[in-house]
Amino acid sequence: MTPAQDRPARLAGVTVVVLAAGAGSRMHSAQPKVLHPLLGRTMALWTLDAARLAGVASSVVVLSPATEALRAELPAETLVAVQAEPRGTGDAVRNALAVLPRGVTELVIACGDTPLLTPADILGVIEARAATNGPLALAAFVANDPTGYGRVACNDEGQALSVVEERDATEEERELDLVNAGLYAVDRAWLDQQITALAPSAASGEIYLTDLVAAAARAGTPAGLYVGDASELEGVNDRRQFADAAAGLRERINDAHMAAGVLILDPTTAWIEPSVTIAPDAVIEPGVALSGTTTIGARSRIGSHSSIVDSLIGADCVITASTVEGSTLHDAVDVGPYAHVRPGCEIESKVHIGNFAELKSARVRAGAKVGHHSYLGDVEIGAGANIGAGTITANYDGKEKHATVIGEGVFTGVGTLLVAPVVMGAGSKSGAGAVITTDVKPGDLVVGVPARSLSKAE
Ligand code: UD1
Ligand code: CA
Repeated sequence: MTPAQDRPARLAGVTVVVLAAGAGSRMHSAQPKVLHPLLGRTMALWTLDAARLAGVASSVVVLSPATEALRAELPAETLVAVQAEPRGTGDAVRNALAVLPRGVTELVIACGDTPLLTPADILGVIEARAATNGPLALAAFVANDPTGYGRVACNDEGQALSVVEERDATEEERELDLVNAGLYAVDRAWLDQQITALAPSAASGEIYLTDLVAAAARAGTPAGLYVGDASELEGVNDRRQFADAAAGLRERINDAHMAAGVLILDPTTAWIEPSVTIAPDAVIEPGVALSGTTTIGARSRIGSHSSIVDSLIGADCVITASTVEGSTLHDAVDVGPYAHVRPGCEIESKVHIGNFAELKSARVRAGAKVGHHSYLGDVEIGAGANIGAGTITANYDGKEKHATVIGEGVFTGVGTLLVAPVVMGAGSKSGAGAVITTDVKPGDLVVGVPARSLSKAE
């Protein structure tokens, strides 16, 4: 998986072309196949990223009008070609050649529907071409079920003679289990010549890129072959293969975390996106989803059925069956079960957030307790405050949001309602069911509806 040491010299003139203009009709989706996300990353970007990690410096992505949305997700330096209609992989490459800079001498052509591809596969196909000294090499694998793939016929020297698409294959050819992975290394000057000679297939009307393989053999320079592993080269055409690919990527990501010291109790049900970082000795329980820019600190335990999105979780936290989004938790915070920490929260160390609490844009200072059944939005909660069960900030008056400030050491009685904007001064208390509509002085005790001070000094 590591990029080759001699990368700069060897890959200097290489550009990767990623084909992402197909309709993907076998997915039966309103969304084009290559735009479907796997572990939070758009399918075609997985292929592009493998090429980048291999050390291929420049890239061209072939889009269609239907896959144009991908353009916004591409790295700035990526060139884009647009294939007006899906006339086949050969036609897609023809469009790529039209935007290719002159200095490019070699292409790696890959499909936007092979997200499991590794940098080693990309380097492998480049090596295979270098080894034959010919114009072309392709990647192939032995398929358990070759259905849907182009079958590769070879000569005795292990070079490819032809690729026959399933719909054009004879019964005998269909028996072949060596299949085309859709990954090629090709000499640019040769491709420029050959691409115009590709004719539409009689069976489908599509222009097959795979016809290049027979063309190379006819010219006496048969294509080199890189035979890789099915678990890396399999494509995604339908929902079943999509699920298999997602599982393969999940396994790879989870293996890397486990190798680095993260305890993942059931790696088959932990879905961790590639953008997530986890410190050693963190524990990930079954059924957890970690996504976006999430970071999990050392020894934190993320309990079953928790979902953490774009959040920073400190060390020694315990999250139990809860959702945390767009928030920062300092160390030793415990959340849940069944709590929802919505975007914009900063929860300081040793805070306890209990059952059925919902927080939004809340700054909760160290050691505060939000035990049960509360809604706390647009609020600042002081250190050591104790928020009684059912405390609600009425932060929205139908038109605007207003802020609530709950001072250090405040104790809110069960069912307290804070009608924002309102401030409870440090050390103040409210009785059960208090509806607080005006600011409470520090140290005061308020009760009733609307809440009034019980302090004699008033
Ligand atoms: C292709 C190969 C097949 C190989 C398989 C590997 C051809 C003719 N067949 O078949 O030999 O075994 O991949 O997975 O190449 N695309 C375009 N424009 C088009 C058509 C396709 O950009 O007009 C893109 C698609 O978005 C996709 C890729 O090319 O990313 C492959 O297309 P797909 O239709 O999935 O080809 P397969 O039938 O899988
Ligand atoms: Ca495919």
